[in-house]
Amino acid sequence: MTKSFYLTTPIYYVNDAPHIGHAYTTVAGDVLTRWHRQKGESVWFLTGTDEHGQKVMRTAEENNTAPQAWVDRLVQDAWKPNWQALNIANDDFIRTTEKRHTERVQKFLQSLKDSGHIYAGKYEGPYCVGCEEFKLPGDLIEIDGKKCCPIHSKPIELVNENNWFFKLSAFVEPLLEHYRKNPDACQPESARNEVVSFLEGGVTDLSISRSTFDWGIPVPWDTDQVVYVWFDALLNYATAVGLTDALDSEGGKKFAQTWPADVHLVGKDILRFHAVIWPAMLMAAGLDVPKKVFAHGWLLVGGEKMSKSKLTGIAPKDITDHFGVDAFRYYFLRAIPFGTDGSFSWEDMSARYTSELANDFGNLASRSAAMVEKYCGGVLPAKSNDAGLESALKEAATKADAAICDLDFQGGILAIMDFCKKVNGYVTEKEPWILAKDPANQQILEDVLYNTAESLRALAVLLNAVMPQTCEILWSSLGAQASLGDLGAQKISDVATWGQLPPGATITKTPVLFPRLETNA
Ligand code: MSP
Repeated sequence: MTKSFYLTTPIYYVNDAPHIGHAYTTVAGDVLTRWHRQKGESVWFLTGTDEHGQKVMRTAEENNTAPQAWVDRLVQDAWKPNWQALNIANDDFIRTTEKRHTERVQKFLQSLKDSGHIYAGKYEGPYCVGCEEFKLPGDLIEIDGKKCCPIHSKPIELVNENNWFFKLSAFVEPLLEHYRKNPDACQPESARNEVVSFLEGGVTDLSISRSTFDWGIPVPWDTDQVVYVWFDALLNYATAVGLTDALDSEGGKKFAQTWPADVHLVGKDILRFHAVIWPAMLMAAGLDVPKKVFAHGWLLVGGEKMSKSKLTGIAPKDITDHFGVDAFRYYFLRAIPFGTDGSFSWEDMSARYTSELANDFGNLASRSAAMVEKYCGGVLPAKSNDAGLESALKEAATKADAAICDLDFQGGILAIMDFCKKVNGYVTEKEPWILAKDPANQQILEDVLYNTAESLRALAVLLNAVMPQTCEILWSSLGAQASLGDLGAQKISDVATWGQLPPGATITKTPVLFPRLETNA
């Protein structure tokens, strides 16, 4: 049994509909998993929703709705359709109110209690419901004389409860050792440094239950308490693939095939949960820790983290209605180095859309198809090759593969788009429209058209993870389906092998891949 490449996104709070910050993470996960699938790997891609806790409970209350009905409606009407609209090909979608999750969380918790990692205690201190986090006094900022959460800019609440505690402090040394030995386990480097210095500063035990409300999973041995929402939520990554199931059961086998996760993609706001608490929980249970936690930066509006609670959230549909889904998927990964904060601007997106997508890529595809139609009756001419294009393609494919596997989406996309520029340069230099004026040039003309079409074949394969709908249109315009099969089945490792499009294939004009933008946006 080969181990699957297992990637997760955070599970999102269903206190509201998704915004482009959520979509940023999930699109990145989708691109990375599509890429790995095209490397021929077995892949498992999980996303889902985080449905318990005070944040969701209070929003439901404010809307005079029972929490379960609230989350059911949002998941059905907002979250799942949103991922579908963005063409997200997740293999599973976990909801923390599902029985498969709640039962496994209880079993896991009981096992930690039985092995002595959990004890009764009293928690007294600040709590941010927006983050669902117990805060340290040093984490807070003052606004109008009130202690506030620096992320939400809202006053914290004081919690004073008898709770169950997890012996997190016992794992400081093992965690430090883990990050020393496996620097790749937390990336980028700035995120790892933050985690290491946080651990070096000392960590206290963690309250893992709450007793003042009941929207959560009951603690199995003390049903007056519910499991702390983060302890519940983090476990989704493992409950979704069969944690605690018998080894020979379906769940047990799935677990063996997927665990440990290869990449947990998270925003930097939730790094500590994933790089400190989560691996400690796994260590306590004697399970492998994830291979990599990658913390990307924030999308900013007005210099601050974009968020619904600050009313700066932008719905993905606001952007896709104007630019289309594939341009949305392309833009954020292309424009912002993954791991760094970035500001969204309509102007920048419009400029890149026009120059990189419509002009460099879209025009190349339509010009090439139109010329094969005009000069060769829509039939792909005999094979040819061009040493410059061939070597540029090899270089682009190698660079893109290395960068994307390293989660440098920007570097990967740039390598591919550089190749696209090179092909444009080739067409401009060869001037097929001039060659076509003299029948004596027919052979050279056909060579140029074959080489251009073959370059577009490679571009469709390389850009498919980022822009699957567009690349599918291109693939069919190249008549590639009949001879080469499904686009998604094309291997990255073979993409640079020149001469795959068969002479005689029917080339058809594409609809415009990236239409001119309406100017009144
Ligand atoms: N429910 C927790 C996660 C539990 S995972 C076990 C949570 N949910 S959330 O709905 O607040 O989503 C947080 C994630 O959404 C961030 O980590 C990030 O992936 C994404 N983003 C939310 N706002 C964002 C930006 N403004 N910019 C970039 N990503 C953002 O935390």
